[in-house]
Amino acid sequence: MQPNTPITLGEFIIQRQADFPYSTGELSSLLSSIRLAARVVNREVNKAGLVDVLGASGKENIQGETQQKLDVLAHNTFIDALTSREVVCAIASEEEEDYIVVSDKDNGKHNKYVVLMDPLDGSSNIDVNISIGTIFSIYRRITEPGTPVQEQDLLQPGNKQVAAGYVLYGSSTILVYTTGNGVNGFTLDPSIGAFYLSHPNMKFPEAGTIYSINEGNYIHFPMGVKQYLKYCQEKKGNRPYTSRYVGSLVADFHRNMVKGGIYIYPSGTNHPNGKLRLLYECNPMAFIAEQAGGKATDGFTRILDLEPKELHQRVPFFCGSKNMMKVVETFMKTF
Ligand code: AHG
Ligand code: MN
Ligand code: MN
Ligand code: MN
Repeated sequence: MQPNTPITLGEFIIQRQADFPYSTGELSSLLSSIRLAARVVNREVNKAGLVDVLGASGKENIQGETQQKLDVLAHNTFIDALTSREVVCAIASEEEEDYIVVSDKDNGKHNKYVVLMDPLDGSSNIDVNISIGTIFSIYRRITEPGTPVQEQDLLQPGNKQVAAGYVLYGSSTILVYTTGNGVNGFTLDPSIGAFYLSHPNMKFPEAGTIYSINEGNYIHFPMGVKQYLKYCQEKKGNRPYTSRYVGSLVADFHRNMVKGGIYIYPSGTNHPNGKLRLLYECNPMAFIAEQAGGKATDGFTRILDLEPKELHQRVPFFCGSKNMMKVVETFMKTF
């Protein structure tokens, strides 16, 4: 090892343990199980073209989407990892209608944390070798430990998250997370299977010149978004901006956080509440965005303050550099 070898995610988690308000080591253990599952999914993603994991599973999920084989594999991998330690009492996933009660020796009743996740983000990109991801969101249960876990433990507003993060399986694999003390990114060295701190204290640039939106849906967009797009494309000052859209939220978000930009999945006549899921996608990304100095709203209201009503609830999502968010919010209010 070189003397200046960056620290690993495992070491970082231990170093930062004292930052947690309830520092019993349980959250550290939970994060370690996510790190392990990410490595397993990364391995499967990397050899996807060689083994039979591409394509549809033949089933539909509760979102009405055709499940891909890798959606199911990632879901199962994360569930296995999260239930193998006595920390998590319930898990909700984009891929399963009901939340899963963890049944350890005492039905998980004494475990304090709940996890909500999008095991495989960017399903439409799996078969074409384009970046995909995993998103996770962690809360402490609000009902008394020792009693059966309730749905209300999972339906907490995003401002109650204790940790959130994502894994981007891209040109390299990076795990980015926050526990409410800034945002740090760890790149996987696949030859030894360790994540190294590569992006300490990540910050959303205040201003940016990239906008990410599925413009094919233009006809369905609200007037505020249509006008904002016109603004992005106008020749004035540093505009027109650059348009970049991967179609995997994790990849689009990560690029915008590194370079400065805005991501929009608005409501539309085809998606009255937008497409993205509040609990599995928007809340964790909003927490990370704010921790990095960015902003996330539904066009009007802070994402983290929305009161969830159901597990698979969708909301419009506007997220990115502060200055760009300010402009789009003005358009939303005006038109
Ligand atoms: P998922 O693959 O987990 O269902 O999420 C897909 C989401 C998100 O990753 C992406 O930004 C968006 O859907 C893309 O939607 P469109 O194809 O409608 O643009
Ligand atoms: Mn999906
Ligand atoms: Mn997703
Ligand atoms: Mn998904």
